[in-house]
Amino acid sequence: MNCVITEKNRLKENIFDFTVKCPEMAVKTKPGQFLHILCGGSAYLRRPISVCEVKNGEEIRFIFQVRGKGTEELSKSEVGESLDILGPLGSGFKIDNFDGITALVGGGIGIFPLLELAKRLGKRTVVMLGFRSADDVLLIDEFKKYSDRVLVATDDGSLGHSGLVTDLLKTEAEENRIDTVYTCGPTPMMKAVSAVAAAADIPAQVSLEERMGCGIGACVTCACTVGGKRKRVCKDGPVFNASEVEWNG
Ligand SMILES: Cc1cc2nc3c(=O)[nH]c(=O)nc-3n(C[C@H](O)[C@H](O)[C@H](O)COP(=O)(O)OP(=O)(O)OC[C@H]3O[C@@H](n4cnc5c(N)ncnc54)[C@H](O)[C@@H]3O)c2cc1C
Ligand code: FES
Repeated sequence: MNCVITEKNRLKENIFDFTVKCPEMAVKTKPGQFLHILCGGSAYLRRPISVCEVKNGEEIRFIFQVRGKGTEELSKSEVGESLDILGPLGSGFKIDNFDGITALVGGGIGIFPLLELAKRLGKRTVVMLGFRSADDVLLIDEFKKYSDRVLVATDDGSLGHSGLVTDLLKTEAEENRIDTVYTCGPTPMMKAVSAVAAAADIPAQVSLEERMGCGIGACVTCACTVGGKRKRVCKDGPVFNASEVEWNG
């Protein structure tokens, strides 16, 4: 589907924030789903980027880091131009009828899909965000609008807790009530979050990130083992129950 870019902002040197107009996609998008975007140039395969926010029921916002040729090309697109986007793809986070207290744990560029989730869950959420340093911090004020509390950890101690975001989760699980955990970020972080949640007997959902080809379940590029079976991250996920994921390494 062709979607016109309605807003473009550069949040950091290599992080871009785009909004596209796509009413048909926006109305059916759930947090945790992703868009498969044709980036242009010599990047023939689409690139998966998470939905960060659904705006006014007719626009979708996504934020991405320039990593290689696809995202580099995408970053050159301008307001008024159209992007060829497939979506919304994947299963998204399960939030049906949930009214407990949730912890959203994000690391680095993995925080983006948690924003729409925070919006939909409402105020009974505590958000924990981990970054390398204060210079990398993003979206904190936006998370504050939708969440009860926002806690920050930085690896170098330049803002918030000095150390890992999983330290915050551990403390929170010991001192306060948490009924469920949602997480997205680097694989080692999600593995650690899953271990903390399991030790505290709290169900957790993780959003896995694998390299993708087709994005619609046909090529198996994105296969990983969940619940003892081979699953396609693009179609069966990217969100899975943490207790079923077989972490490599
Ligand atoms: C479901 C899903 C949602 C995603 N959401 C976002 C998002 O919201 N914002 C964002 O910035 N990025 C997101 N990504 C990652 C993004 O898709 C990749 O960074 C992008 O495809 C890289 O394409 P490229 O052509 O720029 O880089 P390439 O030239 O393809 O690769 C550049 C470098 O990035 C590594 N890389 C590429 N893809 C991945 C991947 N999937 N996992 C780990 N390493 C990878 C490569 O190994 C290489 O080192 C998501 C990925 C998935 C699977
Ligand atoms: S990317 Fe083709 S099956 Fe998942």
